Amino acid sequence: MRDMLKWRDEYAVGLPEIDAQHRYFLSLLEELDTLSEAVVSDRVARQILREVDRYAYYHFNSEEVLMGIYRYPDVENQKRDHFNLLQVLDKKICDFRHQGTTVGPLVEFLGRWFFSHINEDDRELARFIIRARSERRGVNVP
Ligand SMILES: [Fe+2]
Repeated sequence: MRDMLKWRDEYAVGLPEIDAQHRYFLSLLEELDTLSEAVVSDRVARQILREVDRYAYYHFNSEEVLMGIYRYPDVENQKRDHFNLLQVLDKKICDFRHQGTTVGPLVEFLGRWFFSHINEDDRELARFIIRARSERRGVNVP
């Protein structure tokens, strides 16, 4: 997993603002990975995890705003998926903290979570928005 946490161009979905957010999120996981032997309840690990949590929330909100203004058809499903992902993330962090698990397995989990989010959700969203931008249509700013 460790070598996957360095940003690579192939991770880009093609929307500059979303790629910048993904890049920052990945940098948090990389930072967390430096503490892989520490337990999840370690003070520094907890600080990074709080930022992971807040940033995931912010990031999903950003994507939902984009979906709304470009009228992405799958917006309701995506919002539900985002909500579920945040719940799973919180539960996993909480479980690992209580079980005294080290950070390593949590980074594994977060990495898989992050890459499946990019590949299963964001690539399709990006294709849709890139097309809308190139056609200069579909913008519905409230
Ligand atoms: Fe994303």
